[in-house]
Amino acid sequence: MLNYVTTNPGKVREAESYLRDGTVAQLDFDYTEIQAAELAPIAARGAREAYRAADGPVLVDDAGLFIEALDGFPGPYSSYVEDTLGVERVWDISRDLDDRRSAFRCTLAYCDGEAFAASPDPVDRGDRVAAAATGPSDRNAADTDAEEEADADATLPVKLFEGYVPGRIVAPRGDGGFGYDPIFEHGDETFAEMDTERKNAVSHRGRALEKFAEWYADR
Ligand code: IMP
Repeated sequence: MLNYVTTNPGKVREAESYLRDGTVAQLDFDYTEIQAAELAPIAARGAREAYRAADGPVLVDDAGLFIEALDGFPGPYSSYVEDTLGVERVWDISRDLDDRRSAFRCTLAYCDGEAFAASPDPVDRGDRVAAAATGPSDRNAADTDAEEEADADATLPVKLFEGYVPGRIVAPRGDGGFGYDPIFEHGDETFAEMDTERKNAVSHRGRALEKFAEWYADR
């Protein structure tokens, strides 16, 4: 059984549509979200922590909205920005940009405690060190010590799968979806105007799940 680590049952349903019936279960586990400039170290760190808690195979996903003209903002901080500023304010910030191209990105991190014989690219300690180096400067030594201790498994192999969907920021339209969906236009519809099936067919998470499912079938 594969544990999909999320508080959102919708993500589990989406994963089920890519994997064999009965192979995915939701694991409602609140892993530590480190601060990092990229999604990969956040997801990898979460997968290691969740693997220890679940004592079995886990899949963690981390996603975000990257606005090109704002150097990728809000990116890995998308959750925090949605909770604090809100999606309408992100539109306010973006409305006067000449170039409103953006993308949703999703990184899936898989860990089952075993090495990946066929995979030369497990995330190793180097990624964690890089993540710490790009973190905000106001982290104190105690935070860092706690993270070091909590991530004592940093050499535990993690396999990453990335998905991406391009689009542009527009004035909010549509009632469906969640998060930034109303301000993200792909083709001539916002994600909030698409039904779930259509969104999943093009979404960042769908693309990452597709890659994962293909690899996992042989695992
Ligand atoms: P998470 O990593 O899936 O929790 O997402 C991080 C942030 O990106 C949250 O603010 C989500 O609302 C937002 N987000 C992730 N995926 C999507 C999506 O498919 N549509 C809209 N917002 C998303």
